[in-house]
Amino acid sequence: MTAHRPNIYAPEIWNDPHAFYASLRREAPVRQVDPGGMWAVTRYEDVLHVLKNPQLFSSEGFRAGVQPDWLQMRNPVVDSILVMDPPSHTRLRSLITRTFSASGVARLEPSIRDSARAIVDDMLARRRVDFVESMALALPSRALSSLLGVDAALAPRFKAWADAVTGVGITPADAPEARKAELVATLEDLTHHLKAVLALRRHQPGPDVVTDLLQARAQGGVASDEELLGFLVLLLVAGLETTYDLLGLCGLTLADHPELWARLKQDRALVPRFVEEVLRFESPSQSTLRTTTQETEVGGVRLPKGAVVLVQFVSANRDESVYRDAHRFDLDRTGVPSLAFGQGIHFCVGAPLARLEARLAVETLLERCDRLVREPGPVTWNVAVTTRGPAVLPMELFPA
Ligand code: HEM
Repeated sequence: MTAHRPNIYAPEIWNDPHAFYASLRREAPVRQVDPGGMWAVTRYEDVLHVLKNPQLFSSEGFRAGVQPDWLQMRNPVVDSILVMDPPSHTRLRSLITRTFSASGVARLEPSIRDSARAIVDDMLARRRVDFVESMALALPSRALSSLLGVDAALAPRFKAWADAVTGVGITPADAPEARKAELVATLEDLTHHLKAVLALRRHQPGPDVVTDLLQARAQGGVASDEELLGFLVLLLVAGLETTYDLLGLCGLTLADHPELWARLKQDRALVPRFVEEVLRFESPSQSTLRTTTQETEVGGVRLPKGAVVLVQFVSANRDESVYRDAHRFDLDRTGVPSLAFGQGIHFCVGAPLARLEARLAVETLLERCDRLVREPGPVTWNVAVTTRGPAVLPMELFPA
């Protein structure tokens, strides 16, 4: 491992992160990387230690990342649970745990299955499609529009909204004024529409998460208007970007591994295991951030107070000391579950929903298609702050 600080967004690392993180786990499991000299924590055991000790590793440091000084308006995600520590985090998270439980999201299965069928039929009619746009973006957008009770006609704007929420954090103060103005306008558009949904649901309850949140608040859960808005924005961003990557990664894996496709076609009961292994193998949510609240130690390395810690799920999920044959995609894998959805108090609220969407997308492809053939060539990966998946995936679908 060289002494200079590697930049995790450098194309040679981002396009193929696994060899890089394997060398980090071996030689420097806790070390500083760029941008910004963050402390990358790469071994499974150390990642778990950080996630299980929120009193030492705070989530509030995220805030600075999404509220840069140049941004003259409030990024609504700064009022969300992702960037809170207890007790605020505990109070607000309890408002939605029931809505997002496995039984809570099961009620969405019929409508998500219908959406998946309509999407696959449309892809088959067009035959040659970009899988990312046609499926990976379309399915979570539709699921979120009914979950949040936002007009389906607005779904095409979701990706731009989500990109703006995270994009402001990686836009420097000296970026072109036009770019900054565009981000502000997109955030204002998002805030305007979600405020309208909140206002409407106050008078007209509906079968959606906004109504659940308002009712939970009315029953004694304390939450300000900003916090409710922050919640909706977080659900939109967290529910779109990562599921989008997961579905893209499922499509890529199915197209590139005809032997997996054949096995899944024969035995659909294996689909949930396929989804779990894609989550472990590729980690659509590559990492999260924490800030140390005092001087502390991880993996034998001393970190100063205020250090920014980059918690690397992408690396922990391939840790050879935890997963046998860690670099092999194994449909028969059993044992330790991956950290794809995090762990501890911030464990992903939407995990049951993400699993449901991925299972239904894959089941529908298996049901309606004979095979998927990807246009040959290297994959173009999207570069986002913490998520990773194919940016485009041209392929041809053959009907069953
Ligand atoms: C493949 C899809 C998904 C992946 C890989 C994923 C991953 C994660 C991870 C790793 C965290 C923990 C972050 C941390 O510890 O700082 C998280 C938190 C969260 N996720 Fe997901 N997520 C996915 C889909 C969803 C969906 C569909 C929703 C909701 C619609 C959602 C809502 C949330 C929320 C609200 C949090 C914050 C929880 C808290 O801070 O207590 N996620 N997600």
